[in-house]
Amino acid sequence: VSLKPYNTFRIGATTRYWVDINHEEDLQTLLQLTEFADSPKLILGGGSNILLCQNFDGLVIKMNIQGIEMLREDDSHIYLKAGAGVNWHELVQFCVQQGYAGMENLSLIPGTVGAAPMQNIGAYGVELEQVFESLTAMHIVTGEKQTFNHSDCAFGYRESIFKRELKGQYIITSVTFQLDKHPTFHTRYGAIQETLSEMGITDSNLSIKSISEAVIRIRRSKLPDPAQIGNAGSFFKNPEISKDQFEAIQNQYPTLPGYPIGDNIVKVPAGWLIEQAGWKGYRSGDAGVHAKQALVLVNYGNATGNEIIDLAKQIQESVLAKFGISISPEVNVI
Ligand code: EPU
Repeated sequence: VSLKPYNTFRIGATTRYWVDINHEEDLQTLLQLTEFADSPKLILGGGSNILLCQNFDGLVIKMNIQGIEMLREDDSHIYLKAGAGVNWHELVQFCVQQGYAGMENLSLIPGTVGAAPMQNIGAYGVELEQVFESLTAMHIVTGEKQTFNHSDCAFGYRESIFKRELKGQYIITSVTFQLDKHPTFHTRYGAIQETLSEMGITDSNLSIKSISEAVIRIRRSKLPDPAQIGNAGSFFKNPEISKDQFEAIQNQYPTLPGYPIGDNIVKVPAGWLIEQAGWKGYRSGDAGVHAKQALVLVNYGNATGNEIIDLAKQIQESVLAKFGISISPEVNVI
């Protein structure tokens, strides 16, 4: 089976076996089959955060479990449970339309609900963990169901326990979100403020709907649409460096941007470092660096996973040579 339609990088790798999962029970049945017990397994949601570097000699499990269900509400919150296969942006739009606040800054992120907690997706000042209540997952060997609450997931910047200690061990089947009836607007991000003012939005007519629209506009203007150019969003994470190192580099490059995290750590935008190292808009064959956002690597058509990885390595080396900072992939390389 060709995986080209199932990864947003549009890499033409194949898999030996393929199964679509529409119900939790079917996943349990599958995991208990002896036939596939020893096969390597690759769990796919929207395929929007992976780079396939070789054909997969195992079983791809495509998670399609649908459904958005209102579980309960109290004076201030709504609790919604969504199936792992629900499209992330459709869930965000549903919430925005219903007036359930909290996810609007996460509009238009590609991918599915089940993949979102893996890397604690985030954008424009909000991370998934801020609306997360719990999730259910199935153990990949035993098929046993388990609930993980917020602290069990050990969320961090583009991190969770499912990328670390429990990597490869659980398949997320549904996620429960806690949304607010009374919104808190997250508009600190510069690009959001500029876009809202272009839209004629002021404090008096600010709403979760207008924030969602602003985020959609920003993303459309900077990030390539995977339907047109293959990509997986940010390819690298933004590195965190010490305050001392930040100041030393800033002496040499006074325009270096940075966001303090705690007292001694500064997060630096990798996109800026990559652009300064001369890579923005670079293209070699069908592998390239997006012209409007240097953090995004793109496949113009028939690039292979290895061509993308080679480009990524060259970028890492040149950023390290120029700034002494190592950057690491955010995308899951397989
Ligand atoms: N910048 C450059 N050149 C570039 C790109 C960025 O100089 O080519 C500078 C910008 O001028 C700005 C700073 O870098 O000062 C930050 O840029 P931007 O606001 O575009 O955000 P980012 O740090 O590059 C992160 C996330 C994005 C998320 C945006 C908005 C990571 C790895 N990426 O990108 O997430 O949408 O912030 O919050 O944290 C993703 O994970 O796939 C993703 C798109």
